[in-house]
Amino acid sequence: MAEIKRIAVIPGDGIGREVTPEGMKVVRAACSLSGQKLIFTDFDWGADRFLKDGTTLPSDAPDMLQRDFDAILFGAVGDPRVPSNQHAADILLGLRSKLDLYVNARPCVLFDQRLTPLRNRSERDINFIVFRENTEGAYAGIGGNFKQGAPDEIAVQEDMNTRKGVERIMRYALEYARRKGLKRVCMSDKSNAMTYGHGLWQRVWKELQKEYSDLEMRHLYVDTLMMEMVRDPSQFQVIVTCNLFGDIASDLGAQLSGGLGLAPSGNIHPGCVSLFEPVHGSAPNIAGKNIANPLGSALAGAMMLEYLGLEREASAVQNAARDAVREGKTTPDLGGNMGTRELGDWLADRISKRGLAGAGAQA
Ligand SMILES: NC(=O)c1ccc[n+]([C@@H]2O[C@H](COP(=O)([O-])OP(=O)(O)OC[C@H]3O[C@@H](n4cnc5c(N)ncnc54)[C@H](O)[C@@H]3O)[C@@H](O)[C@H]2O)c1
Repeated sequence: MAEIKRIAVIPGDGIGREVTPEGMKVVRAACSLSGQKLIFTDFDWGADRFLKDGTTLPSDAPDMLQRDFDAILFGAVGDPRVPSNQHAADILLGLRSKLDLYVNARPCVLFDQRLTPLRNRSERDINFIVFRENTEGAYAGIGGNFKQGAPDEIAVQEDMNTRKGVERIMRYALEYARRKGLKRVCMSDKSNAMTYGHGLWQRVWKELQKEYSDLEMRHLYVDTLMMEMVRDPSQFQVIVTCNLFGDIASDLGAQLSGGLGLAPSGNIHPGCVSLFEPVHGSAPNIAGKNIANPLGSALAGAMMLEYLGLEREASAVQNAARDAVREGKTTPDLGGNMGTRELGDWLADRISKRGLAGAGAQA
């Protein structure tokens, strides 16, 4: 009998609370095919709780999640009633840093050629993954303002790169390529201008080339990477880069493959409790209307299943999501007329009908 998997669920705010139940629904449907048992435990961290009693991320939460759970399914945080976004920063950035979730994985897979803004590009051309360093770089929060508000104000924002941080994200990307039978791994930096910090990226990448001689390890400056992703995305299988450039490259990748509504992501520390979420935010402009696209959450659920070693179940979810897009069973953002809950039901039903047998792997 397979081990029970314990999932912490943090729906958060806005449409996070609408799409996360649908993500759970499809994950449950896929696991019921194999008899894999799941226990979901809900946490109410988000704007409502913050406004009620000031709680953001309880201080014992990281230890508790690490001890008691196998993975976290996250919705989105952000609420106009909290203009400072304090709760969102504490919860999401707090979990990423306190759980040391150093890999941000963003698959960019085109399910239907109608969804890409690129001309004459098909599903075969857009199927890559971006690994973004998730704990340091320009987002480390090191810096300050001198003479704030004065005409001669100075603002300093440091870009912090550690050998450990650079090496572990590169190794993760390279090992992923090997595990998936992929050949091409592209590292991107701006070492021609950021000679110290990104010079370190260059040196570590060159050192690793000896160890990974079975892979095609390429380097592109980030400006060239942006141009090449648009000109010919088919050349990419795995991209690895720093926090800032990964943020940008993965959003470009999401847009090339159909937009925010169906982009998933994983915040991972291998071997530890890791967090899976749709890329989009809490979308207050459409919250409460049952029109948010649940595919991002469903596909984040698939990434979570894969992380838990449930690869056939993950493929079953991905295949149902692909079917939905190809058959026009979508929410209004992708041109359909289905509601969030109705699409979740449709996906669960398709998963049950298709079963695990037809499940094929997605890069
Ligand atoms: N990971 C997170 O929790 C996360 C990520 C991004 C933004 N945010 C927060 O979310 C709030 C809103 O931010 P924003 O408006 O910049 O970004 P957003 O992703 O919430 O929305 C951007 C646009 O995309 C649309 N959209 C997003 N997800 C959709 C979905 N699933 N289906 C259909 N349409 C969808 C929205 O309606 C909106 O027009 C802010 O408070 C922001 O800080 C949170």
